[in-house]
Amino acid sequence: MKEIKKVTWRSPSNIALVKYWGKKSGVQIPSNPSISFTLENCYSETSVALVEKESKSKAIELRFYFDGKANLAFQLKILKFFESIRKDFPLLNNYGLLIHSTNSFPHSSGIASSASAMSALAMALCDLQEQLNKKKLTAVKFLQRASHFARLGSGSASRSVYPILAQWGKTKTIKGSADEYAIPYSEKVNKIFYSYQNTILIASSAEKKVSSRVGHSLMKTNPFAKARYTQAEKNLKELLSAMKTGDLEKFGNIIEEEALTLHGLMMNSSPSFILMSPATLAMIEKIRKFREDTKLPVYFTLDAGPNIHLLYPKKIAEKVKKFIDTELAQHCENKRMIFDQVGKGPKRVK
Ligand code: DP6
Repeated sequence: MKEIKKVTWRSPSNIALVKYWGKKSGVQIPSNPSISFTLENCYSETSVALVEKESKSKAIELRFYFDGKANLAFQLKILKFFESIRKDFPLLNNYGLLIHSTNSFPHSSGIASSASAMSALAMALCDLQEQLNKKKLTAVKFLQRASHFARLGSGSASRSVYPILAQWGKTKTIKGSADEYAIPYSEKVNKIFYSYQNTILIASSAEKKVSSRVGHSLMKTNPFAKARYTQAEKNLKELLSAMKTGDLEKFGNIIEEEALTLHGLMMNSSPSFILMSPATLAMIEKIRKFREDTKLPVYFTLDAGPNIHLLYPKKIAEKVKKFIDTELAQHCENKRMIFDQVGKGPKRVK
């Protein structure tokens, strides 16, 4: 198969501080604004090669490999995604596509990979199409376009295309915010957040009990939905003001409230899901006790699973490491954890 063009992009995962949970009617439109730290060490690396089409038919020709092995389940998902965006990417009609993807973090670590995978794929597609068009977008427009298409793949992926801090979802609080794509948001915050640490404590690596898609849809009938969306707006506003002034206590209280609200919503959905495990709760209690004893700004957040994301400034990393080793490691599955930090966003590899 003759290769015509190929690009490889590395794109990170992200951890939401104010959570996206619930979609409005329409295509991937969030019910409330969200904001996240972009990570550094947890990423997907995806290469997309354009090859000559094998047949003259209009069908999209795609082969997808994960970790070097053909993966039909992912291939079908991506094919469906490509069908939905083919009018914006003539390359999907004109070439065959050979895609290879890997993750830096183990597949069965309970870490969501849709944000890194879909953002890497969107960056690669936008890059290839731009090269074929021979017309360069401005950097701002390019990222906005990549964020838009990443969002259509997975909502949280829209935030992974920017360094440090990204915001998605229209809100009066932020000028330029939009439901269709995320925007970068690091300039207006205290520099202490640029080097924030995120240690992922793996309480369980088991596959998620409920997919995000189903979780979001349960918000449609959740009795607390309206109050939640009001709370998210308020938390975003207060979080941004805490991040501007460097108020780590206020910042920490909000992110913990967001994590527990997300889990509370799942518990109150019908059907109901409990996504925390005994190990999650044991770690939360120890983190709060450690904070009380030491007055150090160490707070946690969670995504839609049992793993703890510990967030703290780099300057106390040594003390926190000791705490993790002596108190938290024993609650992690096989003592597994991933040390990550706020990161620089996607990059082209070759
Ligand atoms: C709990 O982005 O995975 O991580 O748009 O259906 O792909 P889809 O959902 P997804 O939901 C992420 C939910 C979350 C919170 C967040 O990242 O904001």
